[in-house]
Parts: sequence; C-alpha cells; structure tokens
Amino acid sequence: MTTHEPADAMVFFGATGDLAHKKTFDALHALVKRGTLDAPIVAVAKSGMTLDQLKARARDGIEKFGRGIDEPSFARLCSRLSYVDGDYADPGTFRRVKEALGSATRPLHYLAIPPALFGPVSKHLGESGCATGARVVVEKPFGRDRRSATELNGLLHGVFEESSIFRIDHYLGKEAVQNILYFRFANTFLEPVWNRHYVRQIQITMAENFGVEGRGSFYDATGTLRDVIQNHLMQVVGFLCMEAPNWENTERTRDEQVKLFRSIRTLGVPDIVRGQFTGFRTEPGVAPQSTTETYAAVRLQIDNWRWQGVPIFLRAGKCMPITASEVRVEFHRPPQVVFHEALPPSRNFLRFQISPRIEIGLNAEVKVDGPQMDGTQLELLAIDQQSDEMTPYERLLGDALRGDGTLFAREDSVDECWRIVDPILLHPNGVREYAPGTWGPEFDNEHVLPPGGWHAPRVTKA
Ligand code: BG6
Repeated sequence: MTTHEPADAMVFFGATGDLAHKKTFDALHALVKRGTLDAPIVAVAKSGMTLDQLKARARDGIEKFGRGIDEPSFARLCSRLSYVDGDYADPGTFRRVKEALGSATRPLHYLAIPPALFGPVSKHLGESGCATGARVVVEKPFGRDRRSATELNGLLHGVFEESSIFRIDHYLGKEAVQNILYFRFANTFLEPVWNRHYVRQIQITMAENFGVEGRGSFYDATGTLRDVIQNHLMQVVGFLCMEAPNWENTERTRDEQVKLFRSIRTLGVPDIVRGQFTGFRTEPGVAPQSTTETYAAVRLQIDNWRWQGVPIFLRAGKCMPITASEVRVEFHRPPQVVFHEALPPSRNFLRFQISPRIEIGLNAEVKVDGPQMDGTQLELLAIDQQSDEMTPYERLLGDALRGDGTLFAREDSVDECWRIVDPILLHPNGVREYAPGTWGPEFDNEHVLPPGGWHAPRVTKA
C-alpha cells in the first residue's frame, strides 16, 4: 500500500445526519478505542445544535446502532470534538472551520453530505485555505450517471488532486469482500481453475428482506442499479475476476481493477430485468407512478482471455425473502461419467458469503458409505465467522486518516462502472411488479436467467 503522512485533523461535514448517527460516530469511537485516532475532529452541520447536544446524539447513535459505549474511549472522542454550526453556502462557515483547525496542516475532510453539495463545499474549502495539504473523503452515490460523475470529478479536481480524493464504497471495507481477493491470491490451488475452462457461471446475490425504510424519496430517485449494483456489486466482481494486483502499490492495484472493468461489456436492454415490489409506490416520498426498480438482475460479460463466455449474473433487491449477500462460482461437470450407478453428480461450486456471515465453502461430491458408487454433496468450509472485528467504516476511515487509498475507488474505476450501466439508466426498460417476500419478478428474459436457475444464499445460522 502507498501511504502518505497521517492526517493531523478531521473535519466531519454532515455530523448531525443519519449516516453520522448510525455509522460514522461508531467508527470514530472504535478508532479512538483502538488508538488509531488521536487527532482533533471538527464536526460541521447546520442544525442549531450545541456541542453537548451533538455529543449526546453521538452517544445515542453508538448505543442504538453501534457496538456500545466504552466510557473512557467515548470521553477521549468527546475531548477531541469541536462543532461548527453553519450553512454550507456561507463562506463564514469555512472561515470558522479554518479557525477550528488551528495549526493542523494535513486535515482530512469527510463529506457525509448530499452529493449536490460536494462541489460547493470543496470550492469553499479551496477558497478558505482549508484544502491546502488536505485529503477529502466523499460518500456514495458518486454522481447519478457517467456524465454527472465526470462533472463531479471536475469540481473536486478544481480543488484536490486525484491522489487526495478518497471515494468511499463501504463494500470494499468489508472483511468478506477483501477475503475474496485474499483467498484467490494467497492460495495456489484456485488459480488453475479460475477461468473459462473450468468456471461455468458466476452468480452474485445481494438480498435484503426489508424495503426502503423511510428513504423513499432517495430511493425513488436512485433505484437498485445506482444504489448497489454500479458500485458495491461491481467492486465484488472486480475482486473476484481481476488479475493479481501488486498490493503494496495502491495505484498498481487500482490499475488491475480498472483493467477488468474496462473489459466488461456495456449493458443493453436485453441484459437486465427490473422489478418493483408491490407497495413501493405508496411509500412516503415515492411518486405514485414511479417506475424506479427496487430489484435488478443483470448479466455481465467480460471480454478477456480468462473470462470470455462465462456469464456473470448479478441480482439485488429489497423486500426479498432473506437478508444475505453471496457469490457462487459454479464449475463445469467432470468430462465423463465414471460412476454409472450414481445420479448425475451435481456441479462443484465455491461459495463466498459476504453477509450475514463471512463464509467460504467449496461444494464437492463424495461417496456415500456402502456398496454402490453413489455420491452426495458436501461442503468444505474454509472459513465461517461473524464479521464483527472492524466495521467497513472503521476500516475505511482509518485508512483515509493514514492516507492509504487502496480500498477507495479511483476516478477511472468509477467512470468505467458508470459506463457499464449508463445506457440502461438513460433508457430504462420496463419494470415488473413482484410481491414482497419473493425473489423478484417472474423472468420474461431467459438471457438474464442463469443456467439451472438462481441459487439463494445459504443462510443456516443467525
Ligand atoms: C447502501 C445502500 O449503500 O448499502 C442501501 O444505499 C443498502 O440501500 C446498503 O441497504 C447495504 O449495505 P450492507 O453493508 O448492509 O450490505
């Protein structure tokens, strides 16, 4: 990894927002507890709150949504916290941020604010002198399509160099997602079969058994493709299918990711099925005639020597029967049936569960005890653990504070991911209704239906 000097202050824009309440303060609390965050934190928002009220809100968020309060760590976090209450359009707000930064020369600006404010806030940071020597972390969604992402990059580049811009995709901060890359390249046995000669198809499912949970207007303007496929699931495809990275070098690692994204074909209407759960249109904030998808399934095609002809199916949806994310890499059958008594053996597959647990399992055929050469399928579990060591936000904010950009999306990678989905976003096909609690709409498109059908993630433990 390529690291820079660690940040000597953090400026937290959007500190009274929902993300701050549910995730960020919990991550900052954990970083303080771990001893990796010692710098002053300048919280910024327009809420009319006092510093004490902000601390109380942070405590509430950590207790309700995080991993609970450790009093000495929380006290240390509070002792480093200051608060600037002000409008993001007012240059006076940024003068006060500058004052609060005092002698800091390498601040990290974390923008947990609506994307429409990224441009104006960075401009003010530049004009007030707050951007000198600084890095900036921007939350998703990064643009609405390829064109708006390009514009946004232009605005950020007016103030920050690319190497100082950290675009968050919290999936890259997940242990289970990093483990896909680790498992592939820290073992020798996978590489010979990790290609079109042995892999028949790949399926990735991201299912959530809840709806839009009060985020109706955001979700109606966003939809599943933008919300989780263009970013989270694409990053999973990246780790699953890229060539070996040079992990010690951030840019070389990102070069490999981008090379893979460049070889993914741009999607067209035949490559997608869009669905909407019954009842979405009556959610608060959703237009009564909305055609936004709450479910999407796509078929990706990678044009390179390793993956040519191997279909990659992604699906993601709200109001599914379960909450789980899983990758399933299915292999071809053996070339010849040797044991004729047996039923046709099922196909081998490797399963990477991203949530609710971190699991890697290889499914293989073994002989059943007895005189017949009959078989059954067995799973060899390589790993099976709960992912509570570090939350993605803790990992990513810690990396950004240290200046390690390896797990952040670079400009060209975000651009390529938008390029893949852009035509569908600009000219969406029809949306089909599905009942909540089901696996999405009836498929009228065989092209997006995996051979042998979709396989649900294996969720056996809570
Ligand atoms: C967010 C999306 O980026 O990711 C949400 O906006 C989604 O709609 C969430 O629910 C899923 O993240 P995780 O970590 O719970 O799988």
